[in-house]
Amino acid sequence: MSTSFTDDHGGQRLHVIVTGGAGFIGSNVSAAFLRDGQRVTIFDSLVRPGSERNLEWLQSLATPGSLRFVRGDIRDADAVRAVVADRDVEIVFHFAAQTAVTYSLAQPREDLQVNLCGTHNVLEAVRASKAPIPPMLFFTSTNKVYGALERRLTVESATRFRFSNADVDARGIDESEPLDFHSPYGCSKGAADQYVHDYARLYGLRTVVFRMSCIYGPRQFGNEDQGWVAHFMRAIVENQPLTIYGNGKQVRDLLYIDDLVRAFKLAALRIEKTAGSVYNIGGGPTNTVSIWQELRPRLECLAGRPLHARLSDWRPGDQPIYVSDTSRAQRDFGWVPRIGIDEGLESLWAWAGVLAGRARTNGHIPGLRGSGTDVLQPRVTQADPVT
Ligand SMILES: NC(=O)c1ccc[n+]([C@@H]2O[C@H](COP(=O)([O-])OP(=O)(O)OC[C@H]3O[C@@H](n4cnc5c(N)ncnc54)[C@H](O)[C@@H]3O)[C@@H](O)[C@H]2O)c1
Repeated sequence: MSTSFTDDHGGQRLHVIVTGGAGFIGSNVSAAFLRDGQRVTIFDSLVRPGSERNLEWLQSLATPGSLRFVRGDIRDADAVRAVVADRDVEIVFHFAAQTAVTYSLAQPREDLQVNLCGTHNVLEAVRASKAPIPPMLFFTSTNKVYGALERRLTVESATRFRFSNADVDARGIDESEPLDFHSPYGCSKGAADQYVHDYARLYGLRTVVFRMSCIYGPRQFGNEDQGWVAHFMRAIVENQPLTIYGNGKQVRDLLYIDDLVRAFKLAALRIEKTAGSVYNIGGGPTNTVSIWQELRPRLECLAGRPLHARLSDWRPGDQPIYVSDTSRAQRDFGWVPRIGIDEGLESLWAWAGVLAGRARTNGHIPGLRGSGTDVLQPRVTQADPVT
């Protein structure tokens, strides 16, 4: 299926708002819409280290008039409403968030205000929209809303945990899994997830919730507690020590950012079907890895040397295994992940090299896919390769 909106809009440019648009996911989504020739407004406080760099990158991609940046805080209801109020806004991607579990434990009230009250500001702004049909709203929730999955029994093998139930092990966790919020971050994102879902029922808004597991790819800066794969790679290229919490057999499904961008586009194109729905989005059963016992050999291959990590205590609420069952997304909007772990890791490794200043080639970075390829040479691109 095509992921282009241009045909459906008679050649008119869409206006897309991206809160948190200078972050990892936001900058990749913004770049994809800019490359499609659409108009993008980014609303971001630039609090995340690296976000200014992402914004500069987007500015270098944009044609005149296609990108607007509004610096603001998602907790400021008036500022959010002013941005969303434009009659021509058709899609709002709400990514701005406090994303670190550790920070949420230290500053639970701030986490609540940014993640829950900030999301409520976005919902109310969409509800107050002057557009004939209020814009679609996409919200990025998290697999952490399912808690530690304590009722799911697991078995431990030499390198990984597995679900004891063969069906669940084959398919992963679907959206009927009971909610069980852990940590202030889990609570604030989980409550926001429920508000976004309920506003579709209460007010008929076209909202869509993606409950996402581990997303990885270029424009991620590898800060601890946000993007652990990128964090590992950054530590490796910078020769910094690595700490693994638990025994390293915890399993996660990894989703490469280009696959996520394609999921957003497909879900938006099928909004009659997807509005009011919640989707588990991740790499699924074919893209799983245990976080150290199985990832380590792959990283050693990329680094070309043996790697070591210090094992530390389990973190409270850590899931021994989480794998997304993405069959609802496949059924409703025809999406399956396409980029396998080896290809994705190679691309992220190339990006980590760029960050470390090692890969200063003339525009071409071996191994780096799609959205990151123009990191060194600002240029205007015409077509989105993500179709
Ligand atoms: N990356 C993942 O693996 C993952 C997994 C599940 C859910 N999510 C969710 O996806 C969204 C995007 O995640 P990301 O990885 O791109 O994070 P990120 O930290 O890279 O991006 C978040 C952006 O929001 C901005 N921001 C933070 N607080 C703000 C505030 N108060 N007002 C305005 N802007 C603010 C930051 O400056 C940053 O640019 C988040 O909602 C996160 O909870 C991400």
